Amino acid sequence: MALADGLNRALRRAPVAPLYALAFAPAAYWLWRAVDGRLGADPVATLEHSLGLTALQFLIAALTVTPLRDLTGVSLLRFRRMLGLMAFWYAVMHVAVWVSLDRQFDWSRITADLLKRPYIIVGMAAFLMLVPLAATSFDGAVRRMGPLAWRRLHRLAYPASLLAAAHFIWLVKAWPPEPLAYGAVVLALVGWRFLPRTRRSRRPRAAG
Ligand code: HEM
Repeated sequence: MALADGLNRALRRAPVAPLYALAFAPAAYWLWRAVDGRLGADPVATLEHSLGLTALQFLIAALTVTPLRDLTGVSLLRFRRMLGLMAFWYAVMHVAVWVSLDRQFDWSRITADLLKRPYIIVGMAAFLMLVPLAATSFDGAVRRMGPLAWRRLHRLAYPASLLAAAHFIWLVKAWPPEPLAYGAVVLALVGWRFLPRTRRSRRPRAAG
């Protein structure tokens, strides 16, 4: 516990703002390499995949905050909003690359994909669930909605993450391990929320 307390004291002092810039760095790097013609044979697909995967990884990081605290006492709660917002912004960049570079604003093809391709429909459902979460990720929204309604809305993060993982699994015809591994991690993290509280916390209960 002393280690967790020490870590929490340090984390409470760590600034969050610079982490946003750090979190955008991979996207800036891929964009720079794409513009420079050094993002492989199919830069659009590489950009689409990298941005989509990073969006999913940030979602998973945000979902990990509660189990990590339950299991170790280490609280990254101050960083959860940043992680959630980065998942949203990487999903926005991912979809923007699809609409602009992949589908080149061909709205009839885009509509056809959105209506006919299951993995795209699932991806879009995940994306639409992230929008109200991002739109209410500021203190004023919590005050205006009230903590209970805000927390209820933010449970959308669970189906959004499950759908994003399903989107990844569904887009590949075979069953490669990587998307399945992401799916299993998301299932475990969402499943953690449904465990009885008594089973969740591994930390020793305060005496008395
Ligand atoms: C309207 C919403 C969305 C559309 C149209 C969309 C479209 C796509 C497309 C076209 C691909 C590549 C398919 C291919 O290689 O053939 C893809 C891959 C992917 N997308 Fe999305 N997506 C959407 C939303 C999301 C969201 C919300 C997430 C995560 C939060 C996400 C995560 C991923 C991941 C992880 C991949 C696979 C990356 C890889 O193979 O390395 N997508 N998506």
